[in-house]
Amino acid sequence: MRRPWKKAVVTGAVFGDEGKGKVVDDLAEAADFVIRYMGGGNAGHTVVIGDRSYALHLLPSGIFRAGLTNVVGPGVAFELKIGTHEIALAKAHGSTILLDMGAPVVLPIHRALDLGRELAARSQAIGTTKQGIGPTYGDFWMRRGVRLGDLRSESRVREALTRGGYWKEVLALGHFLDLDDCLAADSLSLGMDPMDLDATVRWCMQHADVVCGHLADTRAIIQEADHEGKRLLFEGAQGILLDTFQGTWPYCTSSLCTPAGVSATFGIYRFDRVIGITKAYATRVGSGPFPTELDDETGEQLRQRGHEFGTTTGRPRRCGWLDLPALRYACRMGGVTELIITKLDVLTGMNLFVATSYEENDTRSSLTAEVMANAVPVYSAVPGWSQDITTAKQWSDLPLAARGFVGKIERETNVPVSGVSVGPERSQLIWT
Ligand code: GDP
Ligand code: IMO
Ligand code: MG
Repeated sequence: MRRPWKKAVVTGAVFGDEGKGKVVDDLAEAADFVIRYMGGGNAGHTVVIGDRSYALHLLPSGIFRAGLTNVVGPGVAFELKIGTHEIALAKAHGSTILLDMGAPVVLPIHRALDLGRELAARSQAIGTTKQGIGPTYGDFWMRRGVRLGDLRSESRVREALTRGGYWKEVLALGHFLDLDDCLAADSLSLGMDPMDLDATVRWCMQHADVVCGHLADTRAIIQEADHEGKRLLFEGAQGILLDTFQGTWPYCTSSLCTPAGVSATFGIYRFDRVIGITKAYATRVGSGPFPTELDDETGEQLRQRGHEFGTTTGRPRRCGWLDLPALRYACRMGGVTELIITKLDVLTGMNLFVATSYEENDTRSSLTAEVMANAVPVYSAVPGWSQDITTAKQWSDLPLAARGFVGKIERETNVPVSGVSVGPERSQLIWT
């Protein structure tokens, strides 16, 4: 059932790539504003319309619905090349785009530093997407760097890059990490020397015309829209277990994935719906603990059947069974009020298991990286189904066992499931 709403948040409930793009595209039909609130080019949100598939990294997945406004908030790490490309795509679909003036710009040096740090960390690497996320947010919290509003003039960009000795520090770090060698070993196709100040200023200004046409004080606009009772749909990136505070730090991203990210950036604290998205099984990309990971044929089966290869990096995703203790924890820490289960179709014809608890675990403890690394899952077999469910249009079309599987998730998490997805295409979403 499609419930009415005024303010809704869509957040990844686990380790990202749960299908947020698809759900946002669906809900956007009823929205006045769709607002991406966190993350950057690390995100890859897929929307499939007919036989066309789009992967969005920065702009909200509402851009394919005409007549609404898509907003990039002040908490988004905005990479200019990706951003200008997606603005063109959004315009081609008749979308109105607003970009917050305060959003931090991901510079070529941030992508080079991300690579350099990962190479220097060797076996302790995080397995980042190499999109410059950690270095960009690091600089932002250190109160330095270029923000989108600076693109209004070349002198502002240069001032932002040199203020307080910023660029000198960048150069020192770049030399310390031997970035020239790193870039020679693993090209990021930057097309310029990321340590060259003048080239960096030019790179920013190349994108200035496009960006400046969309700059806005999005916080004020969203506050006013809220006051007027407009429907606001906030799109998260990554997932609650990749959140810097709630996730498996340091194996996490560098931003707030939960609704706290909306509150922190837009000053909005109450939502009608916080919709957590989870797959019917589990995946993770990059390093970090993953208690239910299947390093065997079944894991490979899930990867092949679910096409589990990164939208942004193409890396094979690690696969495993649904981890209910982790999902239960994530729902609590992310304030999730309802769940949507995606990729149910991938489980058709398989012998199914879910983890229902961890051995000898104090259920009150936070799921830190250390706790997760030592967790031994207790599995429960769940009845499977063999009928094709990809053409199911309503809840009652699903086999009893598939409904039972969803019911088990509801009981174990104590969170209602409001929808299930049975295929990648826009129409393959069933509201329960
Ligand atoms: P996001 O980052 O959370 O938006 O998710 P991604 O787009 O990175 O990854 C989800 C992938 O699963 C995409 O390729 C989607 O097209 C696909 N997908 C989404 N829902 C379903 C589903 O119910 N079934 C199948 N088979 N694929 C789905
Ligand atoms: P969406 O929005 C899945 C993971 C990386 C790495 C860690 C840190 O598509 O769900 P980062 O580049 O952010 O510094 O990497 O976070 N990661 C994601 N995993 N989906 C994503 O985004 C991710 N964005 C980052 O693989 O483990
Ligand atoms: Mg993704």
